[in-house]
Amino acid sequence: MAFRIAPSILSADFARLGEEVRAVAAAGADLIHFDVMDNHYVPNLTVGPLVCAALKPHVKLPLDVHLMVRPVDRLIPDFARAGASIISFHPEASEHVDRTIALIKENGCKAGLVLNPASPLSFLDHTLDKLDLVLLMSVNPGFGGQQFIRSVLPKITEVRKRIKATGRDIWLEVDGGIKVDNIAEVARAGADTFVAGSAVFGSKDYAATIRAMREKIS
Ligand code: DX5
Ligand code: ZN
Repeated sequence: MAFRIAPSILSADFARLGEEVRAVAAAGADLIHFDVMDNHYVPNLTVGPLVCAALKPHVKLPLDVHLMVRPVDRLIPDFARAGASIISFHPEASEHVDRTIALIKENGCKAGLVLNPASPLSFLDHTLDKLDLVLLMSVNPGFGGQQFIRSVLPKITEVRKRIKATGRDIWLEVDGGIKVDNIAEVARAGADTFVAGSAVFGSKDYAATIRAMREKIS
């Protein structure tokens, strides 16, 4: 299985964002995770398509846009134009989940559905066949640097089973509280893509941290 590490810019130095994404790319990241918060769906406010477009020329890596906004649809064409490769959203934030998935694809991006720690897997019942990625939150969305919620582990395993049953190459990403010392456990549960914000950007040596994470899951 291919494992991917996606540093979240939420914990980067926002005054030097271009430099920070170049640094994690050089340090061996596979994706850049871009957290979009609206002070409405989640109690925090971050960045939008303008910043995404500004970062795009700084990295060749795919931009993995995680929308924590309500409503969702209005922003999708903007993020597609801003250079997003993957756009993920929370089903609770969309009035019409199937329409939002279609909109992401029509705009040329891969589509992901994000499930909060307490969101039921039944959201995948009529959507999984159309998705490119399932993102399981292992913290409640809104802030970096929170504690990993362990009850997500059996959920990861269950989603892995469902993905296998489709026979399609759907990525299973986990977001929140992932560190060098718990990434192996998350991989064993069935994840293949790991968001790491504070663990990477809070460390002195990004390359050493990403290397240590990769060693744990190899
Ligand atoms: C939380 C965000 C995460 C966050 C992860 O709402 O979606 O991507 O940046 O940060 P850490 O790795 O510090 O938990
Ligand atoms: Zn995120």
